[in-house]
Amino acid sequence: MRAVVVPAYGGSSVLEYTERPDPEPGPGEVLVDVAAAGVNFTDVYHREGRYPLPLPLVPGSEGAGTVTAVGDGVTDIVPGDRVGWAQVVGSYADKAVIPAEKAVLLPEGLAPDLAAAVLLQGLTAHYLTHSTYPVRQGDDVLVHAAAGGMGLLLTQIVKLRGGRVIGTVSTPEKEKLARQAGADEVIGYEDVPDAVRRITGAGVHVVYDGVGAATFEGSLASLRPRGMLALYGAASGPVPPFDLQRLNPAGSLFVTRPSLGHYIATREELLSRADDVLGWVASGALKVHVSQRYPLAEAARAHDDLEARRTTGKLLLIP
Ligand SMILES: NC(=O)c1ccc[n+]([C@@H]2O[C@H](COP(=O)([O-])OP(=O)(O)OC[C@H]3O[C@@H](n4cnc5c(N)ncnc54)[C@H](OP(=O)(O)O)[C@@H]3O)[C@@H](O)[C@H]2O)c1
Repeated sequence: MRAVVVPAYGGSSVLEYTERPDPEPGPGEVLVDVAAAGVNFTDVYHREGRYPLPLPLVPGSEGAGTVTAVGDGVTDIVPGDRVGWAQVVGSYADKAVIPAEKAVLLPEGLAPDLAAAVLLQGLTAHYLTHSTYPVRQGDDVLVHAAAGGMGLLLTQIVKLRGGRVIGTVSTPEKEKLARQAGADEVIGYEDVPDAVRRITGAGVHVVYDGVGAATFEGSLASLRPRGMLALYGAASGPVPPFDLQRLNPAGSLFVTRPSLGHYIATREELLSRADDVLGWVASGALKVHVSQRYPLAEAARAHDDLEARRTTGKLLLIP
């Protein structure tokens, strides 16, 4: 098979497009012809070794395609089925072995590239808005990087739940996209707490912050008393150590650092969230903005674009 490999941790130049032995499905696994692999910031962290995994590594935590073989004990998936997955490393390849319990059957008519574009970030946006802080009708919500892969999905799902979205973006083009996704107010990254208080008065009920170091302080200062900061990523770098006592005078605030794995820990939870997300995509309630499709061989260019803030919405690698 052809795959992208990380032989040593480092910048995007370590990514090698190369030939690898064809994989075979073991017990409880399925072999898939990959139609598309989603690009996520997590892949950058894996490449850099910030989230270390054993090397050499085929990165890529998300994809979709057609099952070509199943291992012993797999009864509910058969060759020919179309499946998608999230949080299975090894997706930057034209073939991937997926644990059957992580495979999600795609609804009739849903193109696999769309599933590869929405599963990981869609499941994440789902748990953030439904479980970490369940958004209620009329809630004020700050979504950072609102035109990004996560941001466009979060914005739409908050709107589906009746919240008011204030989104941050860095360019006019990104502002336009955030507004098209339903953001009620779009602001820059300067003086975020002032802008938020001008719009809301008391501050927001929740901040969804995947930017991290650059936005953390402004996120905290934008919350109303008893508000929650869901710090779900660190696109600008990790947040430094933090004195918990600061949460008290700031309004008995909540801060959480959630991870998708803990919110799709059982097959039941994975399928229930995936049903919602893929159902919304199939019905048109959730739009997936695929901004760029790169040949698999150009994974390094995709990483460079993502890290340099040149992208909007979702990036796909096509084997
Ligand atoms: N915890 C979880 O379960 C989970 C799951 C999925 C993703 N994530 C996290 O979600 C975050 C967003 O992921 P994504 O794949 O959807 O990426 P993305 O939002 O499409 O791209 C990152 C965006 O962050 C903004 N940004 C602000 N400062 C930045 C900086 N210094 N460097 C780079 N970007 C900066 C940029 O938008 P502007 O130009 O508008 O500022 C950029 O486009 C990542 O931190 C990722 O790790 C977490």
